[in-house]
Amino acid sequence: MSPRLQGRIAIVTGASQGIGAAIARRFMAEGAHVIGMALAGEALRQMAQTYCAFTPYELDLQDHVALTDCVEQVRQQHGRIDILINNAGFQYTLPFLDTTLEQWQHTHRVNIEAQFVLCKLVAPHMVEQQYGRIVNISSTQSIAAEPAVSAYAATKGGINAFTRALAVDLAEYGILVNALAPGAIATPMAIIDGVDTLKTEAFEEWYVRQRKIPLARPGQPEEIASAALFLASEECSYMTGQVLVIDGGLTITF
Ligand SMILES: NC(=O)c1ccc[n+]([C@@H]2O[C@H](COP(=O)([O-])OP(=O)(O)OC[C@H]3O[C@@H](n4cnc5c(N)ncnc54)[C@H](O)[C@@H]3O)[C@@H](O)[C@H]2O)c1
Repeated sequence: MSPRLQGRIAIVTGASQGIGAAIARRFMAEGAHVIGMALAGEALRQMAQTYCAFTPYELDLQDHVALTDCVEQVRQQHGRIDILINNAGFQYTLPFLDTTLEQWQHTHRVNIEAQFVLCKLVAPHMVEQQYGRIVNISSTQSIAAEPAVSAYAATKGGINAFTRALAVDLAEYGILVNALAPGAIATPMAIIDGVDTLKTEAFEEWYVRQRKIPLARPGQPEEIASAALFLASEECSYMTGQVLVIDGGLTITF
């Protein structure tokens, strides 16, 4: 089978670790050149040393000037931008009563405002090409609630609605926009205050032994990357504005 992203230019945010790094590796294996943005310089540099098809951009997604410069450089160097994966995100794990307005706004700036800004920067190039694939990374927190993630959950619900609205506005230009909503995935994000939340006795008992997650295990970043590959490729040709849930069945159970 020929590589599914041969010659494609893809921007992946949060590409230094976890789901973003898995998506970047999968895309490169399928022939894409990946522009990886992230906060963490060292991990990004390691990706660039390992893969010649990886260009690192160390930046904070809240810095709109840096985003503008990056997209402009990509455009100048590669002449096109085919794929945008809005993956980067973070959460404050805090009860609502302890969450400040600044934390709410910070979460929104990183998780959803940056998606808006990058779509604004990249979409005109995709319109010119009459081709593009945008994938926004949401979460199962957008459809079912657990304690202490009010700001994060709000951004993820917003991402679902934004994805649908964007899909409608960009459809006529050959740009397909979809979202992925992962459940519990084994990445550094699952480590909260030094505790791997996917390895606690409480997780084992409820999600694994009692099968609240029917597939009885956390997901791996590569399992999100497989779905991202489909949504970023030409094989995804009649699907837009959808939120694809990848959670081992977590949200289908009571
Ligand atoms: N891990 C999970 O269980 C899970 C579940 C559902 C959704 N998600 C979503 O998947 C995405 C990736 O999560 P992950 O688990 O790989 O997280 P992670 O913490 O392992 O990696 C996050 C990445 O985002 C980047 N990032 C964070 N803030 C940034 C900023 N201000 N500017 C630039 N880059 C920034 C980091 O540098 C890093 O590369 C996130 O949007 C997250 O909400 C994760």
